[in-house]
Amino acid sequence: MVKASDSNNKISKDDGIIVLRNVTRNFGQNIVLDKINLAIESGKTTVVIGPSGCGKTVLVKHIIGLLRPTSGQVFFKGKRIDNLNEDQLGKIRVHFGYLFQSGALFDSLTVAGNILFPIEHFFKIPSQKEAEEVVKIKLQMVGMDGFQERYPSQLSGGQRKRVALARAIALSPEVIIYDEPTTGLDPIRSDVINELILKLKRELKITSVAVTHDMTSAYKIADRIVMLHQGKIIADGSADYIRDINNPVVQQFINGQISEEELEILRMRDSYDATKLWTNIPR
Ligand SMILES: Nc1ncnc2c1ncn2[C@@H]1O[C@H](COP(=O)(O)OP(=O)(O)OP(=O)(O)O)[C@@H](O)[C@H]1O
Ligand SMILES: [Mg+2]
Repeated sequence: MVKASDSNNKISKDDGIIVLRNVTRNFGQNIVLDKINLAIESGKTTVVIGPSGCGKTVLVKHIIGLLRPTSGQVFFKGKRIDNLNEDQLGKIRVHFGYLFQSGALFDSLTVAGNILFPIEHFFKIPSQKEAEEVVKIKLQMVGMDGFQERYPSQLSGGQRKRVALARAIALSPEVIIYDEPTTGLDPIRSDVINELILKLKRELKITSVAVTHDMTSAYKIADRIVMLHQGKIIADGSADYIRDINNPVVQQFINGQISEEELEILRMRDSYDATKLWTNIPR
């Protein structure tokens, strides 16, 4: 639980490296996050699960200041960050690596150029030798050494994901946010990413927040799993706790089952009669 604070802009660092306090986020009438309280422990991997569209990406974007709460506060290492300007946020973002859900590589830059981009943006431009070395190390970590001169369009989806991950770890961040790190990867490659997340925690004490639909990955990497549903955290605990929890919404999600309620909605929709989808196509 987040403790009460004596001031609005500071909290105790012991509360968690990242703290969301009463965070609400609306987009128009759509309340995506509804008074969320979440304290992320340093050096641990927290996994966020929940149905598509429930607000997982919106939640992690608040952690890094890419979105700001409609109300409530976000803290990093005890300091409030949701009210900072872009320059101030830039200084905070150096501590974060962020793997975007879409991969989001720069198409006009090579793989090496993509990895060097955050380094050159936040620090001084390294010498050719330093640059080659750092790119090689980061690519080795994701099994992509040798692809330095390729452009993103010349890579498969899974390869792009791994390069994006190499870029996320380019600044040797304290915190890494992974948004769907294994989506689009085959089971072996997914497990490489799982192992990498575990290795970063074990060896470098990295704090990770990972959003995923992949329960195999979630169970493997998570110290803690948080499930988001209709704007609220409806379950929060260890992998074992979540696996056995007596909550039908959580069980249906983790077992990939559609609820009776959702089936009923589908049955009631005319468009569910697949033959009707073909009727208006001119031949
Ligand atoms: N910039 C935005 N403007 C308006 N609505 C938005 C914006 N970003 C997200 N939303 C809405 O917020 C809700 C949550 O979106 P979000 O991307 O966080 O879902 P998600 O849980 O990450 O889903 P998925 O598993 O499909 O990635 C959705 O209803 C989405 O349409
Ligand atoms: Mg998402």
